[in-house]
Amino acid sequence: MLHKQKGDQKIMVTVGIIGAGRIGRVHVESICTKVGNAKIKALADPFMNEETDLWAKKMGVEITTKDYKEILADPEIDAVLICSSTDTHSPISVEAIQAGKHVFCEKPIDHDVAKIKEVIDALAKNPVKYQVGFNRRFDHNFEAVRDAVAAGKIGDTHIIKITSRDPEPPCADYVKVSGGMFLDMTIHDFDMVRFLAGCNAAEVYVEAAVLVDPAIGEAGDVDTAVITLKMENGAIAVIDNSRQAVYGYDQRAEVFGSKGMVATGNDTASAAVISNVDGVTGEKPLHFFLERYMDAYAKEIKCFIEAIENDTETPLGVDDGLQPVLMGLAAKKSLEEHRPVKIAEVAV
Ligand SMILES: NC(=O)c1ccc[n+]([C@@H]2O[C@H](COP(=O)([O-])OP(=O)(O)OC[C@H]3O[C@@H](n4cnc5c(N)ncnc54)[C@H](O)[C@@H]3O)[C@@H](O)[C@H]2O)c1
Repeated sequence: MLHKQKGDQKIMVTVGIIGAGRIGRVHVESICTKVGNAKIKALADPFMNEETDLWAKKMGVEITTKDYKEILADPEIDAVLICSSTDTHSPISVEAIQAGKHVFCEKPIDHDVAKIKEVIDALAKNPVKYQVGFNRRFDHNFEAVRDAVAAGKIGDTHIIKITSRDPEPPCADYVKVSGGMFLDMTIHDFDMVRFLAGCNAAEVYVEAAVLVDPAIGEAGDVDTAVITLKMENGAIAVIDNSRQAVYGYDQRAEVFGSKGMVATGNDTASAAVISNVDGVTGEKPLHFFLERYMDAYAKEIKCFIEAIENDTETPLGVDDGLQPVLMGLAAKKSLEEHRPVKIAEVAV
């Protein structure tokens, strides 16, 4: 499905976006304002209304529709971004792959390993480009940490520490359909641990509680957790999660190794620090993911488009979508059975 390159002329990739909710709109904005060499032909959402239609047209989207199948049937569309609700990701991925479209799929591909394997099978038969939306890998801070580790600046990795706390908890209705904190929220941290370690996890152990909102507990989930992981390269990782950090979105990482340590703090609106008789104060962290990761969202799509243009591997393939789900399922099992769980136990 690649456009032909004409001499030195650049290829323009034509995209369709499926899902016009929060993250679908983020990707529409990125492509229309920050990502070169791609244009959005169509945006689909069963709840497409006048407001979204007007907004999309203003952004430069040619067509809006209520039926994503129109996008899959359009021969001019090279690639789709699946930004719809989680339960639609794996079936639409399979359909899109079978239709010969390159696919960018928001996280998670599915909560069910068998469904992810259907996507893997579809890709084996029809090897289009496939990328999963773990945007944090494209954040400037986390990229710098990974680069330092990969360049050997801290020697062998011994300990990885991830702090990941949301500014406010989701509502109980969201919690009920989210798949639980590990598959909804921690899944980004599982991906970050793999990214920083450069390998898969071997074992997961969880301590978790409901300390923020009893409604989250009544919905069958937890809101506070400390997760320890043994990585396949021998490193030990710790993730700490909370659904509520009153000072803002707390996203930090540290990697400690045989030759040193690399760490990154939060992004703030400014680096100004005020010192006076009352004390020394600075800005709070940027409020939430839409503030912290806008550049990372644009960069992940830019990399996806480049992989299509250059016919190279996407930076995050389908296995990168599968592994954090396995880690999330192992975390759930660990909490239920109060014991360390090997990834092999859930990788059936
Ligand atoms: N990478 C990230 O940081 C990040 C951030 C937010 C959400 N997400 C993921 O993106 C997905 C969407 O999340 P959201 O926050 O945008 O949710 P949302 O509820 O705001 O939007 C989802 C949209 O999908 C639409 N939809 C449902 N079924 C559809 C279908 N068959 N075809 C087309 N559209 C359909 C819904 O009508 C809704 O407008 C979730 O899977 C979530 O996990 C990822």
